[in-house]
Amino acid sequence: MEIFVVPTASATGSVAAGILAAVIRSKPDAVLGVATGGSPLPIYAALANHRLDMSSVRAFALDEYVGLPAGHPESYAEVVRREVTGRLHLDPANVAVPDGSAADPEAAAADYDAAIAGVGGVDVQILGIGHNGHLAFNEPGSALDSRTRVEVLTERTREANARYFSTPEEVPLRCITQGLGTILEARHLLLVVNGADKSGILAAALNGPVTSDCPGSVLQLHAHVTVVADEAAASQL
Ligand code: GLP
Repeated sequence: MEIFVVPTASATGSVAAGILAAVIRSKPDAVLGVATGGSPLPIYAALANHRLDMSSVRAFALDEYVGLPAGHPESYAEVVRREVTGRLHLDPANVAVPDGSAADPEAAAADYDAAIAGVGGVDVQILGIGHNGHLAFNEPGSALDSRTRVEVLTERTREANARYFSTPEEVPLRCITQGLGTILEARHLLLVVNGADKSGILAAALNGPVTSDCPGSVLQLHAHVTVVADEAAASQL
């Protein structure tokens, strides 16, 4: 595992974008795993400045809410369209997000898992980590070998994500998330973490026991992990 500690959140974006840019230059049809949440936003902003040919790059999102109306601005489909596809000028046909409005979300989740495998897997998976250690929406208790599936969000995660909605009740109760086992199949995991409020959980994930109580601890099981953290987030490492 390599760990870069940089002064600011914006610098985490520049360092992570540099890593992604090198991958895309060497493999123009690279498959990126893209994350939502606040932490990865500086990556997309910085990567846009690299002016790469992104026309063949493919992307799979980590997760999606279940039950939001199509086109809801806080659905991850819309967030990815705005922050990733739009900023990076990806071909929308090359970008996939789990279908949170499918009539059968479990079937949609299984299809999504198969689609990732169908393109040969993810080259670099961008990750953030939640305050309770969640990766994507794999909440504590998720099996370390779990696949893409429907999950119930914890109250803590719903509260953390309420900032994106007009009322806390509007935050969906369920989601489709890539599983921890699915995420671990990506060839390179790139975790970006900012802020003192993440310092405890980052230390637990990287240095504590590998346990489903802290889903982020699965990073310790992967052979190629890069962590980019600002000084505040890295303060307990
Ligand atoms: C969200 C996402 C995760 C993200 C995490 C942390 O709910 N589903 O993929 O990593 O929570 O988000 P943030 O970076 O905004 O703290």
